Amino acid sequence: MTKKFIINLVLILSQCFLQTHAQNLISIPDTLSGNIINLEIADSSHQFFNGINTSTIGYNGSYLGPTIILNKGQNVTMNLANMLSDTTTTHWHGLHVAPSNDGSPHSPILPSQIWSPSFIVLDNAATYWYHPHLHGKTLRQVVKGAAGLIIVRDIVESSLQLPRTYGIDDIPLVCQFQHIDSVTKQIILNDELDNITMVNGTINPMVNIPAQIVRLRILNASSHRVLQLGFNDGRTFWQITSDDGLLDIPVPLTRLRLGSGERAEILVNFNGQTGNTFYLNQYGNELPQGFPGGPAMMGSPIGPFDNITFNFLQINVVPATINPITSIPNVLTTNNIWTTSGASTMNFNIQGSPAMSMTNFTINGVKYDENINNFSKNLNDVMIWNITNQSMMAHPFHIHGNHFFITSYNGSIPPANLQGRKDVVLLGPNGGSATLVTKYEDFSDSIMPYMYHCHILSHEDNGMMGQFIVNPLATGISDEAFNVTAGVFPNPTNNGWNITGECTEKIIYVKIMNSLGQEIYKDEIETYNNKFQSNISSNELKGKVFFLNFKTEHESHTMKLMKK
Ligand code: C2O
Ligand code: CU
Ligand code: CU
Repeated sequence: MTKKFIINLVLILSQCFLQTHAQNLISIPDTLSGNIINLEIADSSHQFFNGINTSTIGYNGSYLGPTIILNKGQNVTMNLANMLSDTTTTHWHGLHVAPSNDGSPHSPILPSQIWSPSFIVLDNAATYWYHPHLHGKTLRQVVKGAAGLIIVRDIVESSLQLPRTYGIDDIPLVCQFQHIDSVTKQIILNDELDNITMVNGTINPMVNIPAQIVRLRILNASSHRVLQLGFNDGRTFWQITSDDGLLDIPVPLTRLRLGSGERAEILVNFNGQTGNTFYLNQYGNELPQGFPGGPAMMGSPIGPFDNITFNFLQINVVPATINPITSIPNVLTTNNIWTTSGASTMNFNIQGSPAMSMTNFTINGVKYDENINNFSKNLNDVMIWNITNQSMMAHPFHIHGNHFFITSYNGSIPPANLQGRKDVVLLGPNGGSATLVTKYEDFSDSIMPYMYHCHILSHEDNGMMGQFIVNPLATGISDEAFNVTAGVFPNPTNNGWNITGECTEKIIYVKIMNSLGQEIYKDEIETYNNKFQSNISSNELKGKVFFLNFKTEHESHTMKLMKK
């Protein structure tokens, strides 16, 4: 061997050593707050590895996005500028908003367009998130980095003695698994072979935590794997929120299991432990068969992070802050489950297709079809969802529109940390089941649906999704925040549309877009005495699904149309 070769070998080996062992302080996302939130989603590149550019997508930056901080009861306008070369949407995961403000696949934002939903924050204090939701593109856009947190605060939470200094004793942890090509360092959309973990976009992450009670806001933002988290010293921690709000009391745990899309805030006590190092570990080997991240599943390759315990986040305990929180509250809030008298019940069966498939799934035997509403309910209906997973794989099942409560989990009373407000329920394989209760409050839209789907993003993109309408009690479409009442008749239609309506603001234009968000018709219309009218003949319209978009001086409102 030549001397040069040996030197190179030593260099290469030492680099490998550095890459696997050097820990990096996690970045803490910037915050945005106030009544106007400006977000720009763009193609970018990010250096996860020194000197190497990985192509990514970010909101207001190269990877992930800022944390949006909202107060319950405030008004907010989200200006979402799409600087991608592709269409996108942005969904406020967990927020209780109207279908037209939800950022579902029915609110496409074309490249270089801005989508500006306005709404009142009706949600309880908890940790929510935002991410793209364009059907068929969700996996790609989210995995490349398009995701951020939303923290909602309210007076109930504010009156409790809880850590809430962002980034100091109240720390966001966006947890992801990624598959990064070992040579090119580019993100590969094959999450079964994920080989990198990240917290807040930082690989080999570590965090400095003061020696006191701290709050960790944990989001499972991975496309696929289930988190099974615990501390390497086996310590107890206390879960204080489920997805959409405070639990009744802090729930002591030594393990926290979160499926894709789920969030939990936990309190951990590091009092007196300055100078020590601990690890937040992933205990994949404790996951049952069929849970992504657990033992090998039939028909799936075993990934480097499957079925093992490893260090997800290093924790360095540093001196306490000046006024630390020193105790865990006894009581947090009182969650009131809706009364179920008069509720209607629907059964949802998840199946592999064919039965043994580990990649292709249906809900009640059907795949997502943007032209079909799978069911409809009326405003203020209470509904019980009986969901049974007849497939061989676990699925995190997510419902838009409002939070739900789990009243039964695998046939029993749910564990205490699943008894609060939720929007994702993790269903185990081979008969795993849950009964949920929810109420369709505040928002209705006879045209634009809410979605329900598996939050494993490849399953969702592949059609493991459905949609439902919440019908208004009176006819017509109304959206209080926008102050438009419009009627589109007939719908579905085969002869074009008459669009008539009322609006408190001057309408600048009405336009029709196809399902790719491309404009195919635009009418500059005038508003007389708050009324407007536009006639669109069918000749201009080709295809099946259209979106009608109204633009006024301050707002933009999109609704879905169907042509027979
Ligand atoms: Cu986080 Cu419909 O999704
Ligand atoms: Cu959602
Ligand atoms: Cu799934």
